[in-house]
Amino acid sequence: MSRRIVVAGNWKMNMLPGEAIKFIEDLAPLVEDAENEIILCVPYVDLFYALLSAQNTNIKIGAQNMHYKESGAYTGEVSPQMLKSINVEYVIIGHSERRQYYGETDESVNKKIKAAFEVGLKPIVCVGETLEQREAGKAEEIITSQTEKALEGLTNEQVENTIIAYEPIWAIGTGKTATNEDANRSIGSIRKKIVEIYGQNTAERVIIQYGGSVNAKNSKELFAMPEIDGGLVGGASLKVEDFNTIVHS
Ligand code: PGA
Repeated sequence: MSRRIVVAGNWKMNMLPGEAIKFIEDLAPLVEDAENEIILCVPYVDLFYALLSAQNTNIKIGAQNMHYKESGAYTGEVSPQMLKSINVEYVIIGHSERRQYYGETDESVNKKIKAAFEVGLKPIVCVGETLEQREAGKAEEIITSQTEKALEGLTNEQVENTIIAYEPIWAIGTGKTATNEDANRSIGSIRKKIVEIYGQNTAERVIIQYGGSVNAKNSKELFAMPEIDGGLVGGASLKVEDFNTIVHS
């Protein structure tokens, strides 16, 4: 079964609203003809501007995090309902930077994914091993366990609508990419875990991206690998030209 390629930009804590508007206005005509799906995950304060700029284009907009509760005394947090109310479509859940710096756990990731589906947001769920775990030969065990815990309790239909981003932590922002074969093998092991739990049909439908120093030079070969269904792109999603090249890979 052939899956679509999804290219998602993760701007992280970059881009002021004015820059976001200009980026999308510049990018939109270049990617009009693109066959791949395009998502930009932007900071909260950019969301509304990005959504307006992306209207009538094939660029979809996502957030980078959210709380799992609907409302309440959680100073500084943003709820799934809030994102949905302005028509945000996607949300990154469990990025390694959130796991590392903000106490995100497999349990909170699972709660957030369920909360996203409750309001009709599509989650982009990140999994990935540290260099230490990799060197200890534990990469596969870590990423399959993160996947299993993230998806726990979801229906087959929800799993099919989840995008998973395999992002080895040692490759994020470092310029070091996993080799095409390595990334393909790791993603294959994630898909195999999904086969075990949800069956072949569901597993074959799940989009699993690679992330970690994807750039305009390596994207084509990475996305050509049979298990790799596109990428979650950090640094290279901040430049229109580079991101356009990646989108057209
Ligand atoms: P990078 O970031 O492309 O800058 O390595 C990827 C990510 O963290 O999503």
